[in-house]
Amino acid sequence: MKITVAQLERYGLIGTGGRASLYIQALAGGEYADLAELVAWSDSNPGRLDAYERRARAAGWSVPRRYPPEELERMIAEERIDRLIITTPDDTHADLVVRALHAGADVIVEKPLTIDMPSVRRIERAIELTGRQVITTFNYRYSPRNSALRRVIADGRIGRVTLVHFEWALDTLHGADYFRRWHRNKAKSGGLLVHKSSHHFDLVNWWISAAPVRVFASGGLRFFGSEHAAARADSAAADSATAVEDRFALDLAGDPWLKELYLDNAHFDGYRRDLGVFEPGISIEDNLSALVDYDSGATLSYSLTTHSPWEGYRVSITGTEGRAELEVVERSAVLLGDDGRVVVDPSATPGPSATQGARPQAERLVVQRHWEEARVVPIPDGIGGHGGGDAYLLDHLFNRVTVDEPLGRVAGFSEGARAISVGIAGNVSLATGAAVNVADLFLGQPVSR
Ligand SMILES: NC(=O)c1ccc[n+]([C@@H]2O[C@H](COP(=O)([O-])OP(=O)(O)OC[C@H]3O[C@@H](n4cnc5c(N)ncnc54)[C@H](O)[C@@H]3O)[C@@H](O)[C@H]2O)c1
Repeated sequence: MKITVAQLERYGLIGTGGRASLYIQALAGGEYADLAELVAWSDSNPGRLDAYERRARAAGWSVPRRYPPEELERMIAEERIDRLIITTPDDTHADLVVRALHAGADVIVEKPLTIDMPSVRRIERAIELTGRQVITTFNYRYSPRNSALRRVIADGRIGRVTLVHFEWALDTLHGADYFRRWHRNKAKSGGLLVHKSSHHFDLVNWWISAAPVRVFASGGLRFFGSEHAAARADSAAADSATAVEDRFALDLAGDPWLKELYLDNAHFDGYRRDLGVFEPGISIEDNLSALVDYDSGATLSYSLTTHSPWEGYRVSITGTEGRAELEVVERSAVLLGDDGRVVVDPSATPGPSATQGARPQAERLVVQRHWEEARVVPIPDGIGGHGGGDAYLLDHLFNRVTVDEPLGRVAGFSEGARAISVGIAGNVSLATGAAVNVADLFLGQPVSR
């Protein structure tokens, strides 16, 4: 069927930093030209908009109209925006979501939905008042291996889930990136329990179709940060603390796109993309554990580290009829070049490195039912970043796939709120040393949408 121009959805985007490129490429690049067009964009840093404009012109794409962030409402009205994509830092999401909804647009907001409970409430209220839709982009749901695990559980192959064990290891390259800029400030990112683990908590909520009810968390800043710099130099037997710094340094000038996007525009707003990870000023944890009880009766034990020598995750889910285990190696090793610096591209998503080190890039899903041999479950190939998740996510977001498929991968406000509720409760638990009832965060009123 030929789709007419009248059916095209009109998109705006706010926050033209690193993550925005996925959406800009897909919309302005023409991949979804039959369904959607990017008509306007906005960023508080005019230099980053310039950079994306140059990129669009060079690629022969039409250039969206630019608006200052304080004129978001005018942008939505003048450009007749149907949906606004929000790819700004986490602490800015809530205000922008609420403003966009009231201005008449639906919202696609990058994870995490927001970073604290009062702002969850504000978003919920705006949805109630406007009747508009908010989608939270949980791209990990779409990665074929994670979808395969969901299918195993939904099909009842391991029975009713009783226990989940989930370990996520970020390597020294990817993990360090959370300590270079706004992520390292808990007031801006909610810390890794909210910023990063909301992906993982969402996966568990979705895999086992349950809601978190109680959280106990423990963790600390134990590797990065100024207080650990000297210890790193000793334990790495490096010749100097400077050599250790170098191994973790991000060379913005050495990457043309990172230079054009961040380094060349730092003078506009003072935004440093490459702060030293052993400098003072870090208020987030780099090692975290959590115990989470679910309304289904299951319990999750979870851990996150940010300085593993390899990157990937392991999850085992035990049920009344068996057990499923998923093991994923996203990068087997971070290696140093002759100059003592890391050799892989720091801006790239962790990818295949089968030739690097003894642990090949791999994924394996095994299901074992009681009284049966273990069986390997085939995982279809994915496309693109985040374990193949990003490409499928875009297809759903831009309505190429419109059926509400049985896996239920599209996540709305309620799923976004539920995912961060674990991290927000975890942050309270970290501060108080006590277990926290999730319902208490919501002041006794469950989030309903
Ligand atoms: N789903 C994923 O896997 C994934 C991956 C990366 C980032 N993200 C999320 O995407 C979002 C953006 O991350 P990023 O790495 O691109 O950050 P970034 O810092 O590179 O980009 C953010 C952009 O927003 C702009 N900005 C800041 N405050 C603003 C405001 N009030 N109004 C308008 N513009 C503003 C900045 O100038 C910058 O250009 C974050 O919420 C992050 O958690 C998600």
